[in-house]
Amino acid sequence: MRNLFRLFVPLILNPYYYIKKIKKKSIKNFFEYDSKPYNRISLISLAINQVILKKKFENCKYLEIGCFDNKAFNTIPLPFNQKIGVDPLRGGTHRMTSDEFFKNNNLYFDVIFIDGLHTYEQCSKDVINSIKFLNKDGIIILHDMLPRSKTEETQEFSGDVWKVAVDLSKSKNIEFVIANVDQGVGLVKINENSIYLRQNGIQDKNFEDYKNLYYKNLPSVNIEKALEFVKGNL
Ligand SMILES: C[S@@+](CC[C@H](N)C(=O)[O-])C[C@H]1O[C@@H](n2cnc3c(N)ncnc32)[C@H](O)[C@@H]1O
Repeated sequence: MRNLFRLFVPLILNPYYYIKKIKKKSIKNFFEYDSKPYNRISLISLAINQVILKKKFENCKYLEIGCFDNKAFNTIPLPFNQKIGVDPLRGGTHRMTSDEFFKNNNLYFDVIFIDGLHTYEQCSKDVINSIKFLNKDGIIILHDMLPRSKTEETQEFSGDVWKVAVDLSKSKNIEFVIANVDQGVGLVKINENSIYLRQNGIQDKNFEDYKNLYYKNLPSVNIEKALEFVKGNL
C-alpha cells in the first residue's frame, strides 16, 4: 500500500510522508548526532570535489543507489551524463533494483552513494558490488549507519544497516569512519587488497545488541574528522 502511494501519489499529498515525520518527532534517542548542520550531501559534494582535484572534471562519475525524491541526486554538482541513479520506484535515471543494475553493469564510478533498501542483506550486497565497480581513489558513502532508537532501526527509517557498519569496521584493508550527522554517514575507502567480511551471527542481532555491544566500538567521528577523512588527511 505504502509503495503504491509512493508510486502514484505526489509526495506532498502522500499521507505516509507526514505520518513518518510525526513518528520521528516522538522518538526517544539513546545518543544524539553532532548538532552542526551538515549532512550526507555535504560529504558527497566534498568527495566529488576531491576527485576533481585529481582527475578531469568530465571523468568524475557518480552512482547513487536509492534516489527517492532526488533530494541528494539532483544536488550532486555534476552534469547528468556523469551521474547514474538507480531506484525501482522513483527518482534517479534507472528504474530497477541495485541487483539488476549491477548484474549488467560495466561502468566504474568515483563516488558511490548507497541509500537503497535498508536491510543488512541488501545493503551488504550493495557494498560488495560497489567495491567491484569503484575507481582507484574512489569513495563509497552510506546513509543510515547510526540509528538512535528502536524505531529508527525499523525498515521505515534506517533499518539494520548498522550491521554493515559492524562488518566494515572489521573488514580487511578497508578504511572506514562514520560521520555522526544525518543518521550516520559511512565513508569507505578501499585498495586492491580490500575484502568485505561478513561477521558470523551479525544477521541475528537486534537493536539492544547494537545499543549495548556494538555502538561503542563503531568508528563514529565528528563532522570535522569526517571532512578530513574525505580529504585524505585522517
Ligand atoms: C531513503 S530513500 C533514498 C533517499 C535519497 N538517497 C536521498 O538521499 O534523499 C530509499 C530509496 O531506495 C529505494 N530502493 C528500495 N529498494 C531498492 C533496491 N533494491 N535497489 C535500489 N533502490 C532501492 C526506494 O525505492 C527508495 O526510493
